[in-house]
Amino acid sequence: MASLQTPSSLLSLLLIQFLLLLINQHHLTHAATDAAAAPGPTPAPLNLTGILVKGSQYSTFLRLLKETQVGEQIIKELDDTVEGFTILAPTDNAFSNLKTGTLNKLSMQDQSGLVLYHVLPKYYSFVTFETTSNPVRTQASGNNGVYTVNVTSARNQVNVSTGVVDTSITNALYSEFPLAVYSLDKVLLPYDLFGPKSAVSKPRGTPDNSTSTAAGPSSEADSSSSSAVVFTARNLVWGSLVGFAVLMGLVI
Ligand SMILES: *[C@@H]1O[C@H](CO)[C@@H](O)[C@H](O)[C@H]1NC(C)=O
Ligand SMILES: *[C@@H]1O[C@H](CO)[C@@H](O)[C@H](O)[C@H]1NC(C)=O
Ligand SMILES: *[C@@H]1O[C@H](CO)[C@@H](O)[C@H](O)[C@H]1NC(C)=O
Ligand SMILES: *[C@@H]1O[C@H](CO)[C@@H](O)[C@H](O)[C@H]1NC(C)=O
Repeated sequence: MASLQTPSSLLSLLLIQFLLLLINQHHLTHAATDAAAAPGPTPAPLNLTGILVKGSQYSTFLRLLKETQVGEQIIKELDDTVEGFTILAPTDNAFSNLKTGTLNKLSMQDQSGLVLYHVLPKYYSFVTFETTSNPVRTQASGNNGVYTVNVTSARNQVNVSTGVVDTSITNALYSEFPLAVYSLDKVLLPYDLFGPKSAVSKPRGTPDNSTSTAAGPSSEADSSSSSAVVFTARNLVWGSLVGFAVLMGLVI
């Protein structure tokens, strides 16, 4: 009897171990999928380029993000953002529907402004879009309320208006705090760059019209820095005049 029982108990032991192994594995795979689905601190780093590449119709926007270095900037800031970011990514079709030369006519600074205009410094889901109040700041907005968009939203339909372009946010390529990436069928042309008044309000410091079509987001910083240069140059002239006078005084 004993000799018969031993193999059977051995068998059941093996069976129990096998079952335990199965249960363990089941738990492990579950834990893995749970971790991937959980919000909060996800292990995989956010890859904006990857999200857009996967969308496969954003090569122009990807190129602009790279050329203007806005993409890098966002990636860097995503690490310690409190508000998050929302990126409105126009499709290649949207860019090819622009009037020819629209992009090329822009200075590098205005191109950056245009790209930053498509970045909202806050994470918006379809639901939070509904509770936002207009105008909505973009990453290109200065302190003076320029470069903003208006958003109207109801029942999962979100419309965006720049005052020059009206379009709607269609599908989300990615939406999990801190990053939302939405697809746009039109390029958002900022009113401050393409509106009828932009030609009138242009001479914000520069009297001649050989410079860029409109004042970009950081033109104020530019003009103040150039006046700082003038100031120091004047100081230099005064300094050398005074120095010269002192020298003459010493000689005489
Ligand atoms: C992001 O995705 C792109 C395209 O899929 C890939 O080439 C790149 O190596 C990825 N970057 C990181 C940091 O994972
Ligand atoms: C969005 O725009 C479309 C077309 O112009 C319009 O029919 C719709 O009512 C708008 N939706 C909202 C929420 O404003
Ligand atoms: C945007 O919304 C603000 C506040 O509601 C309004 O004053 C402004 O005229 C709107 N601009 C456009 C272009 O719709
Ligand atoms: C500005 O441009 C217009 C047409 O492009 C030209 O006729 C005018 O002479 C220019 N003015 C100055 C100050 O350069």
